[in-house]
Amino acid sequence: MVLNGPNLNLLGRREPDIYGSSSMENYFLALQERYPEVELEYCQSNIEGELIDKLHEVGFTYDGIVFNAGAYTHTSVAIHDAIKAIDTPVVEVHISNVYQRETYRHTSLITGACAGVIGGFGMNSYLLAIEALLTL
Ligand code: DQA
Repeated sequence: MVLNGPNLNLLGRREPDIYGSSSMENYFLALQERYPEVELEYCQSNIEGELIDKLHEVGFTYDGIVFNAGAYTHTSVAIHDAIKAIDTPVVEVHISNVYQRETYRHTSLITGACAGVIGGFGMNSYLLAIEALLTL
């Protein structure tokens, strides 16, 4: 499962100097072509509770979750707790290098609950997270 949080539905249009000009839909097609042997699914929500529901829904049966929680990364104890509550390993992903940005982005409340974190490689952060899950 590739799961995206708030504002990531606007990838391709949102601050392209930071997040690039590819939409997630197009990038997801490229991921599916790259990993034909992996059953990939994509889901996005702007709503914290829906992200938590999705983690609960897939988190006991799927092999891995690649999760960009967007700004909830820096604020959500509830998402931290949801990741802790499930069995499926979660890799935290960021498109940008959050440590080169505002200080409020330097704190992640979810990293401690995740198997690992990948960020700063543009959209290819998602690909690298899949690679990481495949090696677990
Ligand atoms: C982000 C970084 C977050 O700080 C920001 O709120 C996002 C995207 C990234 O992918 O670089 O929405 O998670």
